[in-house]
Amino acid sequence: MTKGLFITFEGVDGCGKTTQIELLKKYFENNGRTVLLTREPGAKGLGVKLREILLNYDGEVSPNCESFLFLADRAQHIDTIIKPAVERGEIVLCDRHTDSTVAYQGYGRGIDLNRINLLNDIATSGMKPDLTFIFDIDIDTSMSRVGKEKDRMESAGVEFFKKVREGYLAIAKQEPQRVKLIDGSKSIDDIHSEVLAIIKSI
Ligand code: TYD
Repeated sequence: MTKGLFITFEGVDGCGKTTQIELLKKYFENNGRTVLLTREPGAKGLGVKLREILLNYDGEVSPNCESFLFLADRAQHIDTIIKPAVERGEIVLCDRHTDSTVAYQGYGRGIDLNRINLLNDIATSGMKPDLTFIFDIDIDTSMSRVGKEKDRMESAGVEFFKKVREGYLAIAKQEPQRVKLIDGSKSIDDIHSEVLAIIKSI
């Protein structure tokens, strides 16, 4: 059986990762691989309900509560969707995963990073992505791409997103083997070529 792969895609809102995931999916499928495209929060079933709360609930949500909801979604996602697909030998392309919680709840909301790492580890039972792409864009570009219709997370404000971006840059520095930092301001084609070069090198 061909070996499964677990690849995650990260970055601030509007960084262009969804376009790149679609392009990479086509590449793998053209090479005869089965691809599972999925996302956090809210891939399927229970996750969709958690996503609805996380993105649309309009009352107060404490940072700890927010973290646990993302982590609950992740635990369900890893156990019922990601792990089984990787074990079947599929390529799993996941739009956001553990690094989002480090960047948004850790750096953005200010929750202790050691705690976030421990909780991520519990939620995933220690399963880590084989490879992670972070698409880096400046916050002005992020805000203009998000536009006026904002969900609960997108409404957190410029200062919050500056911290989230710093978080992503720190993650990329700390784990250069797993995490590849890509300049998200380049053209779609240039970014795709860069992504493919990395995929071919692993
Ligand atoms: P989504 O619409 O999926 O955004 P995007 O298209 O930018 O991926 O919304 C997910 C939002 O949830 C996004 O603002 C990032 C945030 N998020 C966290 O704050 N923590 C997390 O652990 C995850 C997975 C997402």
